[in-house]
Amino acid sequence: MRDIIQMIVVLAVLGAASGGGLALVKSGTAEKIEYQQLKFVKGPAILAIMEGCSNDPIVDRFKIPYGESDASHVDYGSGMSEWCANCHNGILNSEHKSGSGLFEHPAGNNAYLDSAVSRYNSYIKTGDFSGVQATAYLALVPFERGVYDPAQLNPTSTEGPDNTSRIMCLTCHRAHASAFQYAGRWDFGAELVADSHPAAGDGGVSGTDPYYSYYGRDMVSEFGASQRNLCEKCHDVPRDGYPPGW
Ligand code: HEC
Ligand code: HEC
Ligand code: HEC
Repeated sequence: MRDIIQMIVVLAVLGAASGGGLALVKSGTAEKIEYQQLKFVKGPAILAIMEGCSNDPIVDRFKIPYGESDASHVDYGSGMSEWCANCHNGILNSEHKSGSGLFEHPAGNNAYLDSAVSRYNSYIKTGDFSGVQATAYLALVPFERGVYDPAQLNPTSTEGPDNTSRIMCLTCHRAHASAFQYAGRWDFGAELVADSHPAAGDGGVSGTDPYYSYYGRDMVSEFGASQRNLCEKCHDVPRDGYPPGW
């Protein structure tokens, strides 16, 4: 009988100790493993986005703002289009002729902005060409600086392009989809930004999707109701919008 009591006591002690141990391990690692909390984030752009957040994505998904602004953005150097071409080789090398559409456009390490440099730098919005190079960067229409050394990139730069700058796939497309067709940074088919998808009755988009696609910028109050399709940062935009109809 004594032996049995002794065994029960020993087992209880062992059980409590290992239970306590496990509880300690859990409470020590839950932040990292269970809540996926990120510590020691060093990227200044990421830190800027996460200001005021506890690094807990479950809680913070409602607090993290839209990522990019003209003065805080990914600063692209080179090779972005070539990366996309790992899978979309035809589009890169036959200038966007190889897909389902007929649209033709240069992109890539040789696609210099050329004649579009001065237009990009002076363009502020439809009808307003009073901009200057030092503040011309528009995060909604990014480009590559044409440099290979990351130390020459600056995510807070508001500088517009110069003659080493290039057009890339992400000048017009979002990397992770958008509210618009073909993952466009804007609605390629609408002449006016104010007339973009979704029109009344359109499906495939909900709530604040378009607002988030513009990184939380209220396009009509910032650019005006007569703002045309953002291809206009580099080109005149025809009345019927861009493809189809180009
Ligand atoms: C100047 C703006 C612009 C650039 C730069 C651009 N695209 Fe596009 N892309 C468009 C437009 C506009 C459409 C829709 C027109 C169409 O093809 O029917 C489109 C459509 C697409 C489509 C879907 C239809 C298709 O043709 O298969 C893919 C995929 C695509 N682009 C990939 C790319 C890749 C990859 C790059 C870089 C190599 C790139 N795009 C560069 C504007 C652009
Ligand atoms: C790992 C391969 C891969 C890479 C890398 C890749 N894509 Fe794609 N992409 C695909 C596939 C697959 C599809 C779907 C094709 C289909 O549905 O016919 C697609 C579709 C697209 C579409 C059409 C979306 C639509 O709504 O029709 C666009 C635009 C696009 N990609 C742009 C890009 C851009 C820009 C990059 C570089 C940032 C890129 N892709 C990198 C594989 C890739
Ligand atoms: C960042 C500047 C930039 C943006 C944004 C831009 N383009 Fe271009 N585009 C250029 C440059 C540079 C060229 C090549 C020089 C030229 O033909 O004027 C070009 C060429 C073209 C061409 C002639 C292509 C050929 O091979 O014949 C078309 C068409 C065109 N762009 C339409 C568009 C459309 C549509 C959009 C928006 C979806 C757009 N562009 C956005 C800079 C830009």
